[in-house]
Amino acid sequence: MSENVNRRDFLGMALGGVALVGAGATLVAIKGTWDPLPSVIAAGFTTVDLSPMAEGELRVVEWRGKPVYIIKKTAAMKKCKTRDVVVSQSDYSVGIQICTHLGCIPAYEPASMQFKCACHGGEFDVCGRNTFGPPPTPMEIPPFKINGNTLVLGEEGPEYQQLKEANV
Ligand code: FES
Repeated sequence: MSENVNRRDFLGMALGGVALVGAGATLVAIKGTWDPLPSVIAAGFTTVDLSPMAEGELRVVEWRGKPVYIIKKTAAMKKCKTRDVVVSQSDYSVGIQICTHLGCIPAYEPASMQFKCACHGGEFDVCGRNTFGPPPTPMEIPPFKINGNTLVLGEEGPEYQQLKEANV
């Protein structure tokens, strides 16, 4: 009798142990499927070296599938305290180049220093602020961080936080 009870206890503990190990392994596997892949994490950031840019130059980079414009401002261009990104004492205009009306991509015209949207005639100034037509708001400033002369899109640094607070 006591041998039977001991055997039953042992079998119960053994099965319980196997079940615990199985549950633990399942939880680890589930967590593995929830965590983003390293390639996905890396895809969230776009780094742009600003040092080779000339004054007045426009660059368009892709960030999370969206076009982001970067213009190194000349002395003749409008300054926008609440939107300009200052890197090494140069002003840059940075924004997601998507019209805030219905999502077309406005083209930049260097001669007039404006973005013009061909879809419904919307216009934005060099700072990305809506100035004419149906766009209801300025073009969005993507989250960014400044690392020396490099702009890191996709990470919120103190400079981005300042612009965000200034535009609330
Ligand atoms: S989508 Fe740009 S003005 Fe309508």
